[in-house]
Amino acid sequence: MKRISIIAALAAVISCGAPEEKVLKDTFADKFYIGAAINEAEIRGTDVEGVELLKKHFSSIVAENCMKSEEIHPEENVYNFELADKFVEFGEANDMFIIGHCLIWHSQLAPWFVYDEKGDFVTPEVLKQRMKDHITTIVTRYKGRVDGWDVVNEAIVEDGSYRNSPFYQILGEEFIPLAFQYAHEADPDAELYLNDYGQNVKGRRETYVKIIKDLQARGLRIDGIGMQAHMGMDYPDFGEFEESLLAFAGTGVNVMITEWDMSAIPTVNTGANVADTEEYKKALDPYADGLPAEVSAEWNARMKASMDLFLKHADKITRVTAWGVSDGDSWKNDWPVEGRTDYPLLFDRNLEMKPFLKEY
Ligand code: G3I
Repeated sequence: MKRISIIAALAAVISCGAPEEKVLKDTFADKFYIGAAINEAEIRGTDVEGVELLKKHFSSIVAENCMKSEEIHPEENVYNFELADKFVEFGEANDMFIIGHCLIWHSQLAPWFVYDEKGDFVTPEVLKQRMKDHITTIVTRYKGRVDGWDVVNEAIVEDGSYRNSPFYQILGEEFIPLAFQYAHEADPDAELYLNDYGQNVKGRRETYVKIIKDLQARGLRIDGIGMQAHMGMDYPDFGEFEESLLAFAGTGVNVMITEWDMSAIPTVNTGANVADTEEYKKALDPYADGLPAEVSAEWNARMKASMDLFLKHADKITRVTAWGVSDGDSWKNDWPVEGRTDYPLLFDRNLEMKPFLKEY
């Protein structure tokens, strides 16, 4: 259900003659939500300028970190909802489509979740109960308030096999339908999603199509699949990306662009697995003092081509979310190489909109 305001769409029409600055959520109001990952400083309101950009330009938000298990559920009987509550309140106060990220993920996993007191993996029965308690407690708390959940994040690796996560090692493939079942039982009206990076590759494409069809065959709710769309100047191949987009849409679920960014600096890793880091080398950080005009022009052209692809399939895509608001916020400044200066998002370090967006 797209809660995209007709008023916003009208505003876009009425303002078309006015010289005022472009408002992204109005520009794309009849296509898809325009979203951003929101960080702690924005949630707490200490990043005043970031909050202004969020309120002005974005119709959807996703929790960048505050709902990950190590943050929200650090010990078995300890939940930390303070920041997550503020995140949801911010979204409600600004009439945004709110995404909870993420319920089941191998990374940033609170250590207690999958180990027993001896440090061995817990039994399947214990893990099922812990997953159910975790998902039920969090999803119930935000029932009717969080519109959609990244239920399972990054479950499949490049060759299409299951990531050898503790969830997979203990429960096998069943951990995915179980997570969707628990989430749906907690909030029957919430949209439920799979989410992963590198979705352009054939392995992930084929396996996720199988998983979606299996969830559907079981009668479990699955509304969409997230293509994180972490990009660089030399990846992904847009033809492969489009092939995956069409394959996912072919199952009948919505497609979402969930973590869009595009590195303007040398590619070190085409994935997004947090643990895969590399040593700093100056050669990998060529634009620390600013992006050369010719590189900026190439980056904007590639971002325009990417947005044009999303618009070509706006009938299949419900949301385009950037993984942050402005370049200084981006995780790409410190991953996979800590201490680089990247230029991957929709607004620059002066909080100016990137040129490619002004062409729409
Ligand atoms: O909040 C603490 C702070 O108190 C502490 O001083 C500081 C230094 O240790 O760390 C801060 O936590 C960091 C957190 O970001 C907030 O800045 C964590 O160490 C750091 O690991 C965490 O990185 C996040 C990463 O996921 C791992 O959770 C990135 O911001 C976030 O952009 C990134 O997002 C992931 C998606 O969730 C899933 N897809 C891939 C994407 C990129 O890895």
